[in-house]
Amino acid sequence: MNLLGAEPGRIFVDGTLGYAGHAEALLNKTAPDGLLFGLDRDADALAAAAERLAPFGDRAILLHASFRELRDVLKARGVSQVDGVLLDLGVSSVQLDRAERGFRFSEETAEETPLDMRMDATRGETAADLLARASEETLTDWFRRYGELRGAARLARTIVESRREAPPRTAADLIRLTREARVGGGRRHHPATLVFQALRIAVNDELGALEEGLATATSVLAPGGRLCVIAYHSLEDRIVKHFMRGAERGCICPPKDPICTCGILPSLRRITRRPVRPGVDEIAGNPRARSARLRAAEKLAA
Ligand SMILES: C[S@@+](CC[C@H](N)C(=O)[O-])C[C@H]1O[C@@H](n2cnc3c(N)ncnc32)[C@H](O)[C@@H]1O
Repeated sequence: MNLLGAEPGRIFVDGTLGYAGHAEALLNKTAPDGLLFGLDRDADALAAAAERLAPFGDRAILLHASFRELRDVLKARGVSQVDGVLLDLGVSSVQLDRAERGFRFSEETAEETPLDMRMDATRGETAADLLARASEETLTDWFRRYGELRGAARLARTIVESRREAPPRTAADLIRLTREARVGGGRRHHPATLVFQALRIAVNDELGALEEGLATATSVLAPGGRLCVIAYHSLEDRIVKHFMRGAERGCICPPKDPICTCGILPSLRRITRRPVRPGVDEIAGNPRARSARLRAAEKLAA
């Protein structure tokens, strides 16, 4: 709340509304007249958030949209500038805990868990669709880049060979294929966890949405407005870090060029040089926060 500069009368966007914990705090801090636009791709999350935020009346405006569409969504409501944007990336605890969404596997329920993984369950292809259709090269690329898996190519080949008989439909099918391909996941993770992570990122185009979302969020900030982003794995955090660094630098001309010809001016000033991490007490109370990294930046005057 402090990094966002939440104060009465200001307008904020929560681009990842989820179950509205952050949104509720923002609405309390901006009382009595601040506004909050809350976006989520997940219609179930929006419905639950609407209930939680009902006491705030029309100070909370909830929208079923991806944060990559932020500028257009605000424009359609006659808003061109806001005082802060928050992105708390990834999936929510509720999404993780709902087996039928297929975000998480557990050996006990894997036979009944469909390979869905869409954050917006109303559109797009499921994980099962992608596993049935994507080429071996594409699958290898996803497992390598999004899962940082050892044995990515072997797993892709195993999937492509096995789907000639029947494509994987359940979490159990995918776990079996992961074992068969003998992929490695490093010391900290079960290999299937990284396979699931890779597929989830691909199904939701999470990194593409993040890159676009950061740019569009910056473009709607008023001078002095704040952008705060919480990432939960290094792939996302790296994108946030490079984006904020690049926006602070502006010019993209090669360093050896004698003068700037690109004309790109700095648009942000970083206010956290290093990411803010949760403390021991926060992790004890909320273990899923343990990998969170928060970075914040402020919009410069044009
Ligand atoms: C970690 S949860 C946010 C939890 C929230 N801060 C709270 O207080 O309850 C992330 C949420 O962002 C949503 N989400 C992820 N990517 C999104 C995107 N590109 N656009 C909109 N919502 C997205 C997910 O559906 C999920 O509900």
